[in-house]
This record gives sequence, C-alpha cells and structure tokens, in this order.
Amino acid sequence: MPQKKNKKTVKNSYAMITALMTPQDQNFLGYVFGGAILKLMDQIAYVSAARHSGKYCVTASFDRVDFKEHVHVGELLTLKSCVNFVGKTSMEVGVRIEAEDPKTGKVRHTASGYVTMVAIDKNGKPTTVPQIIPETEDEKRRYREGQIRYKMRKEIR
Ligand SMILES: CC(C)(COP(=O)(O)OP(=O)(O)OC[C@H]1O[C@@H](n2cnc3c(N)ncnc32)[C@H](O)[C@@H]1OP(=O)(O)O)[C@@H](O)C(=O)NCCC(=O)NCCS
Repeated sequence: MPQKKNKKTVKNSYAMITALMTPQDQNFLGYVFGGAILKLMDQIAYVSAARHSGKYCVTASFDRVDFKEHVHVGELLTLKSCVNFVGKTSMEVGVRIEAEDPKTGKVRHTASGYVTMVAIDKNGKPTTVPQIIPETEDEKRRYREGQIRYKMRKEIR
C-alpha cells in the first residue's frame, strides 16, 4: 500500500489558464482553430500532471474532444484542469473549456476532454507517481469514472 506521504489531494493539481483569442488563432472562417485550443489543453494538462507528480511528464494520449460551439476572436478562453485518476505512472487530467465574451460577460462551455500524461524519469522511462486523494463528491465521481476510462483505454490498446 502506498504511504500517506506518497498521496496528494486532487486540489493540489488544480490549474487555470485564461487566454485572449487573437487574429493569429483564427481559421479561414474567422473562428478559432481547434488546434490552438488543443495546444492550450495540452499545456494545462501538463501543469496539473507536473503539480501532481513533481516530475517531467509526456502526453500519452488525448481522448475524444468534442467542440460544442465556435470560439470567436476577441473572446477570453478559460481552461480549468485537475487530475481525475492516477494509475501507476499515468494520470488522467480532465480539462473544461469556457469562452467568455468580455463585453457581455456571457460564458459558454465550448469543449471538454481528457488527456493522459505519463511521468518520466531522467532516462525517459515511465516512473511512479503519488496516488490521488479525491475529497469532494465531484472529485470522487471523477475518480470512479476516470478509473473506468483507464481500464477501457488499456483494453483498447
Ligand atoms: C507514453 C509513453 C511514455 C508510454 O511508454 P511505454 O513504454 O509504452 O510505457 P508502458 O506501456 O509501461 O505504460 C506506461 C503508462 O502509460 C500508460 N499509457 C501508455 N500508452 C498510453 C496511451 N496511448 N494512452 C493512455 N495511457 C497510455 C499506461 O497505461 C501506463 O500507465 P500506468 O503505469 O498508470 O498503468 C511512451 O509511449 C512515449 O514516450 N510516447 C511519446 C510521448 C510523446 O512524445 N508525447 C508528445 C510530446 S510530450
């Protein structure tokens, strides 16, 4: 069994990024590129995973990401993340993305997704990470659901 000192709370892994969507992020139709949003997802997932593991991490995979609505240039994109579930060396990071029109203050949920990050040692090999302690009801639900997805990903591979 892992020792208490080898466990960390979900709260410790919370991260938030707010970015202004600029003309250089836009596609030919004037909306923000999905790739620009995926890059921010990858970055914030790294922040949560690095906070949890205290180690360098690599992106192992993205689960399906559904873009529910367009994001417009001039909107503020806020990404929130935390570690949902931890295996031995991998961490499932959940990311929620919201777009805000700064003129009206209206906030829209535009996308969500899961990123699996793996902690690596100095030789680039997977290395163990602390176990996670879900505290709130939401964190406990995300942990249970994350565990199911972790097993499904292994089966699919
Ligand atoms: C991700 C990577 C470290 C896995 O290495 P590996 O030698 O295949 O390691 P293992 O099979 O022992 O798996 C290690 C962990 O990764 C998880 N994993 C491996 N491939 C995965 C995938 N495609 N999706 C989700 N998790 C994955 C395993 O479930 C395991 O988790 P666990 O220890 O919590 O049970 C390796 O494939 C790699 O370095 N890939 C390139 C990463 C990269 O360049 N990313 C983009 C830039 S950062």
